[in-house]
Amino acid sequence: MTLPLPKGAELRQDTSAFLSNGPKKLLINGEWMEPLDGETFPTYNPATGGEIVQVALAGEEDVSQAVHAARAAFEHGPWSKMSGEGRGRLLNKLADLIDEHADELAELETLDNGKPLRVSRRGDLPYTSLHFRYYAGWAGKLEGTTVPVSAPNQFVYTLRDPVGVVGLIIPWNFPLLMCAWKLAPALACGNTALLKPAEETPLTALRLGELILEAGFPEGVVNILTGPGEPTGAAIAAHMGVDKVAFTGSTAVGRKILQAAADSNLKKVSLELGGKSPNVIFADADVSRAIKGATWAAFSTAGQECVAGSRLFIEKPVYDQVIEGLVEQAKRMQVNHGFAEKVHIGPIISKLQLDRVMGYIEDGKANGVEIVTGGERLGGELAEGYFLEPTVFTHKEDSLSIVKEEIFGPVVAATPFESWEELVSRANQSRYGLAAGVWTKDVSKAHRFARDVQAGTVWVNGYGMFDPAAPFGGVKESGFGREMGKDALDLYTQVKTVWVGL
Ligand code: NAI
Ligand code: MG
Repeated sequence: MTLPLPKGAELRQDTSAFLSNGPKKLLINGEWMEPLDGETFPTYNPATGGEIVQVALAGEEDVSQAVHAARAAFEHGPWSKMSGEGRGRLLNKLADLIDEHADELAELETLDNGKPLRVSRRGDLPYTSLHFRYYAGWAGKLEGTTVPVSAPNQFVYTLRDPVGVVGLIIPWNFPLLMCAWKLAPALACGNTALLKPAEETPLTALRLGELILEAGFPEGVVNILTGPGEPTGAAIAAHMGVDKVAFTGSTAVGRKILQAAADSNLKKVSLELGGKSPNVIFADADVSRAIKGATWAAFSTAGQECVAGSRLFIEKPVYDQVIEGLVEQAKRMQVNHGFAEKVHIGPIISKLQLDRVMGYIEDGKANGVEIVTGGERLGGELAEGYFLEPTVFTHKEDSLSIVKEEIFGPVVAATPFESWEELVSRANQSRYGLAAGVWTKDVSKAHRFARDVQAGTVWVNGYGMFDPAAPFGGVKESGFGREMGKDALDLYTQVKTVWVGL
């Protein structure tokens, strides 16, 4: 294992113990199991390119066993008889355990994903436990309604039933937090789950599995299946025994999942897919705050965020000022491995992903965009990892692929605009509609933009804020369904209507 630790530093003892206790197995029916055909795959450290550990690869048969366990737990196990209050108690217990082991989990996250340790520890981890607590609160409050109907002598009410066995397919950019986004509401509502972390970042999900057992969730309620999109993810999406799939990832895979649902049992699907979000700076904004906000919108998590503010629209009078400020901010950002003392952004997740990002930059250059800062892979001590400079480019053509496609790297397209009509039409000229940002001191303008922009979330004078209570999801090809908040309960329950003749 090659570690990117600062000189003299070591991994915590609990982290090392977790990593060295043998190849990582599958969690099926409350037990850690070898995959049936014994296959494993490596997970890598993106800061060094080195292998961390081998992890079990779940094949179709393993997926079927997990579905079987989840079905049994859903229909017959103690879970099926537990009250909402009881489920809430377990979720709170899990949240406590996550907090107790936050240092260890943050180290694992930074090792596997590359993001700065400070970000894992102060961002991903507290938000993960907060999610479990938020949905613990909902578990005992899943109310139906009474329905006044026109037919005489009928009493009608609704119940909120769990959906059943749910498949949760997770991306690598917020590995543990995305598990919480899906698992917390799924469990609060009484479902049983198959959790599939991304093949790039399986470690925190596996440690979470241990904590789930320690918290006392009954066997089969949460099953953890590590492996790549194919065969593991695809087998979940196609399985006749899975009642719902919740997915976060690329639009291309989102389509495949929808197709697999259509070709199998018409399982319910919710999709949180890509984005190419517009971030707008008006001339009447607090420009220096807007510049800092736009920098983080574009570059945090090395731009590997579905909501990255990757299309920056700048009103003409402040265009030069903003570009100058953005370049200065970008140059000041420390790109380094996540355990370094000075680090703002870590590596790109993989060689494949780095090559994709570089491909966009090369294509942009060949088509006349101007790179005003960045654009190069880092060498020297960082040459073995996948580090890229924060990159700002300007353009006139909105139709270039670097301008309209999701890059998922630290690359932002900056462009001037002059009129409201021009802004709204260009901002909405995207197949995506996940998020948008707007910076202005004019209250009406901010609300008008929020009304007119096609996006699932709009941030005014800020960017990238999240809370378990605030619903989140996309419009257009960014997907459908709303995670978080009360809305997520709709994804994991179905309404049953009961008619009683009086
Ligand atoms: P991906 O969509 O292939 O992977 C996301 C998850 O889906 C992983 O767990 C993967 O194993 C699984 N998966 C892959 N193929 C599958 C299949 N056929 N059936 C079921 N599950 C499958 O994304 P990838 O390749 O890691 O990244 C490619 C691009 O996707 C990125 O450049 C970015 O544009 C976008 N992306 C968006 C994310 C978001 O937060 N919306 C997160 C990750 C990637
Ligand atoms: Mg990894």
